Amino acid sequence: MFKPDNKVFAERREIFLNKLDGKAAIIPGAKLVKHHADCEYPFRQDSNFWYLTGFDEPDAIALFLSHKPEGERFILFVSPKDVISEVWHGFRWGLEGAEKEFKADKAHSINELNDLLPIYINGCDEIVFSIGKHPLIEKIVLEIFSKQLESRSRLGVGANSIKSPEIYLNEMRLIKSEFEIKRMKEAVQISAEAHELVRESISSKKNERQIQGLIEGFFLEKGARGPAYNSIVASGDNACILHYTSNNAPLNNGDLLLVDAGCSLTDYYNGDITRTIPISGKFSKEQKIIYEIVLSAQKTAIKSAVIGSNSSTVHNVALKVLIEGLKEIGLLSGSTEGIIEHQLYKHLYMHKTGHWLGLDVHDVGAYRMGEYEVPLKNGMILTVEPGIYISDRIPVPEGQPIIDDKWKGIGIRIEDDILVKDTNPEVLSIAALKEISDLEF
Ligand code: GLY
Ligand code: MN
Ligand code: MN
Repeated sequence: MFKPDNKVFAERREIFLNKLDGKAAIIPGAKLVKHHADCEYPFRQDSNFWYLTGFDEPDAIALFLSHKPEGERFILFVSPKDVISEVWHGFRWGLEGAEKEFKADKAHSINELNDLLPIYINGCDEIVFSIGKHPLIEKIVLEIFSKQLESRSRLGVGANSIKSPEIYLNEMRLIKSEFEIKRMKEAVQISAEAHELVRESISSKKNERQIQGLIEGFFLEKGARGPAYNSIVASGDNACILHYTSNNAPLNNGDLLLVDAGCSLTDYYNGDITRTIPISGKFSKEQKIIYEIVLSAQKTAIKSAVIGSNSSTVHNVALKVLIEGLKEIGLLSGSTEGIIEHQLYKHLYMHKTGHWLGLDVHDVGAYRMGEYEVPLKNGMILTVEPGIYISDRIPVPEGQPIIDDKWKGIGIRIEDDILVKDTNPEVLSIAALKEISDLEF
C-alpha cells in the first residue's frame, strides 16, 4: 500500500490553500468504474485529488478550507474501516490512517458528508468545485450553495459564487517540482527501456499482441502500475489509425511497426513514447524517406522547445519541416504558407505535435489564453511527436497530388518526452534509440 511522502503533499496543499484565499475547495476522488457485470477496472485515482492528498482509495473527498485557522484546513472524508469489506476488496486506511499517515487535520466517514459539509463550508467567501463531473456530490454542493445565497441576501455573509479548482491546480501542475521531475524521469526511463526491448526482440515476434505483452510485462516487472494509456502496437497500415488499440494483427516482414506506449508509476507519473521500427530490420526506400522527414521534423521541433518559446511554435516548426519534406517527394504541392493556411497537409498529418505530460498523459495546463500563447518555462514537460500517415482513409484535398500506391500503408510517428530547462531542452526518453542506423539490423 502507498505511503505518501508527506512533505511533498503538504507543500502542495500549502500553496493551494494560499491561492484559495478565503475560499473552500471540495475535491472529490475517483470512484471505481464498472468493466462488466460486477467486475471493475483497476482503480485509478483522480489526478487533482491525488496531487493534493496522495490518498489512493475510491470514494474519498478532500476539503481545503482556507477560511479556517491552521489545523482545521485539510479534511478527508474516507471509507471507514470495515472487516468484511476489506476481506472482499482489500485494505483501507480508515479515519485513523487518513489522519495519521495522510496528515488530514480531521478525517470523517464518507457517510457523514451530507451532514458535515454545510458546517465546514460555512463562512467561506466562495466555493471551489468542479461543476459537471461529480453528479452525486454536485447535488449536495448546489443545495449548500443555494442556502448560502439565500442567507447572503439576508445576512450579508455566505458564498456567492462557485469557481473551478482547475484555475489553481492546472497552473500548479503545469510546472513540475524537483520531486516530480525525478519521478517523471523514472517513468520515462522505464518506458524507454521497454521500447528498447521491442527493438532488440522484434525479429522473434510474430504478432502485435506479443509486443504489447512484452512492453506491459516489462512495466509491471519494473514495479510500475502498468501502461499509462492503452498501448498502441500498430504494424503496417494499422499505424495510420492514430488510436489503434486492437493490437492483434500478425507482423509482416516489409512492414513498419509503430509502438506508442508508456508506463504509469505507482504514484501515477507517466511516460509517453512512440518509436517506429522496420519489422524485417531494413527500411524500404520509401519508408526510409518518410522516416527521415519525420525524424528531421522532430529534432528541429525539440530544439525549438526552449524557454520563452511556446507549444504553437513547436508545432509550427515541425509542420514546416514535414511539409517541405513532403513537397520534395511530390506528396504535397504549392507554397508552404498556402498549404499551412488552407490545411492542405491534414490527410497526411492530422494531429498536433505534442502535449503537456505529467500525472495525466495529456496533462492539464493551458496552451494559450485566447490570443496569448503560454510561454515555455523551466520545469514544464511536453511531448514532441510529429508523424506522417499515408493511407486512403482521408481524401486528398483538391489540387494536391494523387498518392502513388508505393507510399500507402506507411505510418510513422516519433515521440519523445522533453523537459524544458534553463539551458537546452532535455530529452528524457533518450534511452529509446531512434536513428535509422540504430533501428536496422
Ligand atoms: N499516447 C497518446 C499520445 O501520444 O498522445
Ligand atoms: Mn503523446
Ligand atoms: Mn504517445
